[in-house]
Amino acid sequence: MKGRLVILTGAGISAESGIPTFRDPGGLWEKYDLSEVATPEGFRRNPRLVHEFYNARRRDLLRVKPNPAHYALADLERAWSGEFLLVTQNVDDLHERAGSRRVIHIHGELLKIRCEHCGGVFRETGEVFPETPCPGCGRPGGLRPHVVWFGEEPFHLPEVYEALSRCHLFVAIGTSGTVFPAAGFVEVARAAGARCVEINLKPAENAPLFHEHRYGPASQVVPAWVKEILKEG
Ligand code: APR
Repeated sequence: MKGRLVILTGAGISAESGIPTFRDPGGLWEKYDLSEVATPEGFRRNPRLVHEFYNARRRDLLRVKPNPAHYALADLERAWSGEFLLVTQNVDDLHERAGSRRVIHIHGELLKIRCEHCGGVFRETGEVFPETPCPGCGRPGGLRPHVVWFGEEPFHLPEVYEALSRCHLFVAIGTSGTVFPAAGFVEVARAAGARCVEINLKPAENAPLFHEHRYGPASQVVPAWVKEILKEG
């Protein structure tokens, strides 16, 4: 199989690395009220609580590592002779740590912060608080996670839609298909005539829109699928 490949990943690809998903039993939105920690209103109401939520997730991220599914996608990118784009809803850096190069984070990145005063975006692996001065302009009180909250516009959408509208193969891995616009990417790919493959532990909400389904843990199913797709040549 050659041509233009677009892959979309969600929290399920990082689950076996030890990063909790959002909507599975025991997931993040069971433990935290997303309106408090993942909305602009929640941040305005209680910035310290939100910073502590992201500080904890940053600490957890630095303790985990990529799993075979992340490495398989990096192998696929290196071996793929056509156009390749990896779009992720995840804010972790496990794709990059596994060697993926062309990664678009439409929901932002946990290891980056943004200053509301100067607009600067900076790498951050430590802790941030409301009084932390901006590494760029030096002013306090303006830093926030460089993460897309509910009600905010995801990043890089024009580039993603351009790739989807021309792709031959679209593969969604480890996403519940419940949050738009990502949940609608499969429809854009279908309209472009792409073959659409769902890889998940169980059928996602938008499963009927896919032509092919591979169910099982990503760390086993993704490497097997990559091996097959590369053998197809
Ligand atoms: N292997 C494969 N898939 C898995 C595994 C696994 N080991 N474990 C869980 N999954 C699947 C679940 O079946 C589910 O379909 O991962 C998906 C996780 O769904 P969500 O928790 O909703 O995560 P996601 O789809 O990435 O959420 C989308 O919602 O809260 C926002 O911004 C957040 O980016 C996130 C977006």
